[in-house]
Amino acid sequence: MPSDHPPIQPLRFVQRGAIVNVERVAPERTLLALLREDLGQPAVKEGCNSGDCGACTVVLAQAEGDGLRWRAINSCLRLAHSVDGSALWTAADLTQDPLLDLGGAQLHPAQQAMLEQHGSQCGFCTPGFVMSLFAQYQNRVMAGETVTREATQADLSGNLCRCTGYRTILDAAQSMARLPPARVDQAALLALLGQIAPAPTTLAALLQARARWPEARLVAGATDLGLSITKGLQPQARLLDLTRVEELGRIERQPGWLGIGAAVTLEDAFAALVQQWPTLAEFAQRFAGLPVRQSGTLGGNIANGSPIGDSMPLLIALRARLQLLRWDPDRQTAAERHLALEDFYTGYRRNRLGADELIERIEIPCPEQPADSGWTRAYKVSKRHEDDISTVCLALSLQLDNGQVLAAAIGVGGIAATPVRATRTEAVLTGQPWSVATVQQAMKTIESEFEPLSDLRASASYRRQLLGQLLWRSWLESQGSALPYATGLQALEPISPRTETELRP
Ligand SMILES: Cc1cc2nc3c(=O)[nH]c(=O)nc-3n(C[C@H](O)[C@H](O)[C@H](O)COP(=O)(O)OP(=O)(O)OC[C@H]3O[C@@H](n4cnc5c(N)ncnc54)[C@H](O)[C@@H]3O)c2cc1C
Ligand code: FES
Ligand code: FES
Repeated sequence: MPSDHPPIQPLRFVQRGAIVNVERVAPERTLLALLREDLGQPAVKEGCNSGDCGACTVVLAQAEGDGLRWRAINSCLRLAHSVDGSALWTAADLTQDPLLDLGGAQLHPAQQAMLEQHGSQCGFCTPGFVMSLFAQYQNRVMAGETVTREATQADLSGNLCRCTGYRTILDAAQSMARLPPARVDQAALLALLGQIAPAPTTLAALLQARARWPEARLVAGATDLGLSITKGLQPQARLLDLTRVEELGRIERQPGWLGIGAAVTLEDAFAALVQQWPTLAEFAQRFAGLPVRQSGTLGGNIANGSPIGDSMPLLIALRARLQLLRWDPDRQTAAERHLALEDFYTGYRRNRLGADELIERIEIPCPEQPADSGWTRAYKVSKRHEDDISTVCLALSLQLDNGQVLAAAIGVGGIAATPVRATRTEAVLTGQPWSVATVQQAMKTIESEFEPLSDLRASASYRRQLLGQLLWRSWLESQGSALPYATGLQALEPISPRTETELRP
């Protein structure tokens, strides 16, 4: 190992009521590899090794405020070092944790319920399901919440059962609360976590490290980067972790704008957006599955720059701008610059970020009151409802006054080499009545504005047609037409504008 290298710290976490201390863990070692291969814990399963199946799910608890924050995550993509300072459970730990009082039972309710409801068939996916259920137990059952079918589907959105035993698994989730309770000794756990709380990295230290090792890869949730390790087999020996910098994890609400730190998880970032624009709630649930949203970050999504990434069309429609930072060696301070998100990309997965820069924050202009937010909608069409990436994504934000479109911003994904803005279609809408005639004109324009590719997800003509249909759908919704949130390919069900016009009150 060369001496001019970001230093490797020992890794410490709490497991089974004790502090585990592991020395010399390579920066690119995944948590799954650490648990299974280095620590001999085979209860964590390896399925896809790409964040898709959930077999490798483990649960993390981190001190937050006066309490604990519980998250189910995919250990196959998360880097081992990222759990430094956390408590960790695998399925095998649930019956062997002195801090977890099972009230005399032999199994945790998450396990007992799976047993009683026949939720396990092959058994291979089961430890992952049990861990997602354990996180649900801590987050919902222990909080006294009634566990609904809908909430369970959201909580298990990152777990696949290939023999489709979902009903019994959903039944298991809903029966956990009827079993004798299992309680974690939170005070004792917090005391242990206090002993291993990692020293936060300052923003200045991170920027200086970025300037010193420009070839080092920045890493946040590793839900993209982890794939280059597990699938691309590309060693990433030089990594700079962004998630330890407090400023990058902040959400700030200021008059007129919302600032989301680049290392805020997708789950928390979407929660902040939904608070401002409640109509985005459904779209937020369509981003990957819960474990990916609980690790992946908003800044990571933008920096990764996939043309089928989901946050960017939305943020383009919301006219977001990026705050980029680098270390200025002459002034010995951070230097910032701003860039509209729509101007950030220069080509397929290429962007204007300098080798010594990072994304610090995403700034989104906001009206003072959520009710003033105009007409803001985002739609994702994918082959699978949960845990799938977009075939096409369309987001629009309209300022309406007395039925007139004062301003329009439309972001689209899946139709070009980068996420883009539909400026020609915006021009057709702007200054016009929000009417059938205008929308039909806008549909024609958006269907001809781009030259999408045909690939395994969809043909070019399907994508073009989708763009028009999603605009039409949005107009229908604005007229109070209660369309269900169509899933996957059903979203293409053609709705003839003429027919719908006739149906209109
Ligand atoms: C199963 C699965 C499902 C997924 N589903 C979706 C989906 O539905 N929609 C979607 O859009 N994406 C999806 N993704 C992709 C991924 O989850 C997102 O792109 C996520 O936001 C990446 O964030 P991260 O923190 O994990 O990034 P990382 O993997 O840590 O980093 C990604 C890239 O960004 C760089 N980077 C990270 N943060 C910064 C920063 N602050 N400044 C500069 N560079 C930075 C890193 O160097 C790296 O090159 C999915 C991934 C998986 C595995
Ligand atoms: S092994 Fe499939 S999600 Fe991790
Ligand atoms: S029980 Fe394992 S795939 Fe269904």
